[in-house]
Amino acid sequence: MTDYRTLCQNVAGLIGGVPHLIADLANASAALWEAMEDINWAGFYLMEGGKLVLGPFQGRPACIEIALHRGVCGAAVTTGETQLVPDVHAFPGHIACDAASRSEVVVPIRARGEIVAVLDVDSPTPGRFTEADKAGLEQLVCVIERELAELW
Ligand code: SME
Repeated sequence: MTDYRTLCQNVAGLIGGVPHLIADLANASAALWEAMEDINWAGFYLMEGGKLVLGPFQGRPACIEIALHRGVCGAAVTTGETQLVPDVHAFPGHIACDAASRSEVVVPIRARGEIVAVLDVDSPTPGRFTEADKAGLEQLVCVIERELAELW
């Protein structure tokens, strides 16, 4: 099980006081990638012109633009809620950037009350993510929202 407490502390240390959004998200994705087992993608999509655009990540090359009515990432934005998807093949409209991905968590990120990005983590194992992972990743997003509040 991932030690989310330590991960949150590490990420706060890496990005706190660093006024460069892309550098901060890149380091956050790298820290996440090192801390979690059995994942094949971890990174960010940023809201830009009414759609999601690929941001800093670790893993295989991924789709560049995602319309809000599409995929797990789009659903996280339109519902405003974390999406915990145990089997991506059963999720209508799932976008298979990497055919190896089988389960996924997407957490919305807010600034000034609006969704400005999402955190997306994928695994090749069906049912990889538990409610504890969802809570831990939401905690991580709280740290990111707090430390980067002024940068979006
Ligand atoms: N599977 C996501 C797309 C992004 S990739 O997984 C990196 C989705 O359905 O929104």
